[in-house]
Amino acid sequence: MKHYYIETFGCQMNVHDSEKMAGILKSEGYTAVGSAEDADILIFNTCSIRQKAEQKFFSELGRIKSLKKRRPDLKIAVAGCIAQQEGIKIIERAPHVDYVVGPQNISALKDIITSQSDSVFTDDNLAITEIELPIERRDNVRAWVNIMYGCNNFCSYCIVPYTRGRERSRASQSIINEIKDLAEKGYKEVTLLGQNVNSYKGNVDFPGLLKEINKIEEIKRIRFVTSHPKDLSDELIYAIRDLDKVCEHIHLPLQSGSSKVLALMNRKYTYADYIKKIEQLKREIPEIAITSDIIAGFPQETDEDHNDTIKALKEVEFDSIFAFKFSPRPGTKASTMDGQLPDDIKSNRLSEILELQNKITERKNNGLKGTIQEVLIEGVDEKTSNKFSGRTRTNKVVNVLFDSTIKPGDTIKVKITTARRHSLEGEIV
Ligand code: 5AD
Ligand code: SF4
Repeated sequence: MKHYYIETFGCQMNVHDSEKMAGILKSEGYTAVGSAEDADILIFNTCSIRQKAEQKFFSELGRIKSLKKRRPDLKIAVAGCIAQQEGIKIIERAPHVDYVVGPQNISALKDIITSQSDSVFTDDNLAITEIELPIERRDNVRAWVNIMYGCNNFCSYCIVPYTRGRERSRASQSIINEIKDLAEKGYKEVTLLGQNVNSYKGNVDFPGLLKEINKIEEIKRIRFVTSHPKDLSDELIYAIRDLDKVCEHIHLPLQSGSSKVLALMNRKYTYADYIKKIEQLKREIPEIAITSDIIAGFPQETDEDHNDTIKALKEVEFDSIFAFKFSPRPGTKASTMDGQLPDDIKSNRLSEILELQNKITERKNNGLKGTIQEVLIEGVDEKTSNKFSGRTRTNKVVNVLFDSTIKPGDTIKVKITTARRHSLEGEIV
């Protein structure tokens, strides 16, 4: 019996790619183990979106060197976005690495374990939308489903178009088939994955795809990430409003409240365009939760631009955000722009953004106290282990005390009794 261990960094796309790698390994007779020490093959699924993520991986890779010395038979593969970007350079820098496999070449993993093969797989893979891989999923209530790969937007700060290639959509029929199969296996929720789901182009457009998925009986909830504000159409807003299974939550990265900075970022919308969409979303779907991403300290961002972001946070009142210091990524336009800012300015602006948003998030969560929410139970709350954990349709985590009448996969009504910043507590009603 052979064993594998996968360490995953980065976004949901990467987490799902790891499920595919696990699927390939399992179908070749491998089983998962809990640590690198016990593995025959060790895979790092890496992220290069910010320098911090990259550093974390390289220090892990350094640590594993002594293990490889003790166990030269251990195969080490580097996958994900750093693999794509660095290619052979990873092996030159760290000769204890055996294989480098970019995100468009996950299927090469089979060749690696079944035959003597090349060691670097980073070619552009135009057929990626047609490849159906076995998937070993981590969860059995919620499932991720790729609907498209890659990105054409070239936001000036972003590495993704370089690592995941051009935008390609999967045929709607394969997506539907995958979700029908998930429904048969008992899954209740799907999250459709793509760098920019609004520009999905199959036999139907994205709202059309949602309509088709909405018909699959056993699936109770449909979510999707990520939406680009420039492509958020009226039809999509109506689909969220009208399709009963599409959840009332949208992740709509703003990045900056300054239209000048947005132009430098090549985001193709102004703050005025953005707020118009937000107003429309709130008008059509009053209960909608809106979350976002913000970058602090982009090149040439002045105090005034930063204040525009602060004003935007106050005006939109996001349910929650992810905020990051700008991190120059080699090869992107923003990394060589004039006006790079020192780290202390970026840190101060980031702190101010997070402090303000924490207050807004707490206030919003407090407002839910006493309300009745529909919660899909996902599993046991890892922190307390005497509670179930689930989510509202608006994607807020809710914990409820164990009750023998409910089980993961059930949708129940919960009265919210306690609000925290990152989760809510409630009683079954
Ligand atoms: N520096 C900081 N944040 C970045 N993001 C993407 N690239 C960078 C970068 N170079 C953030 C954006 C994006 C999220 C996934 O990561 O906010 O929406
Ligand atoms: Fe995901 Fe982007 Fe990181 Fe790649 S670089 S793993 S696409 S967040």
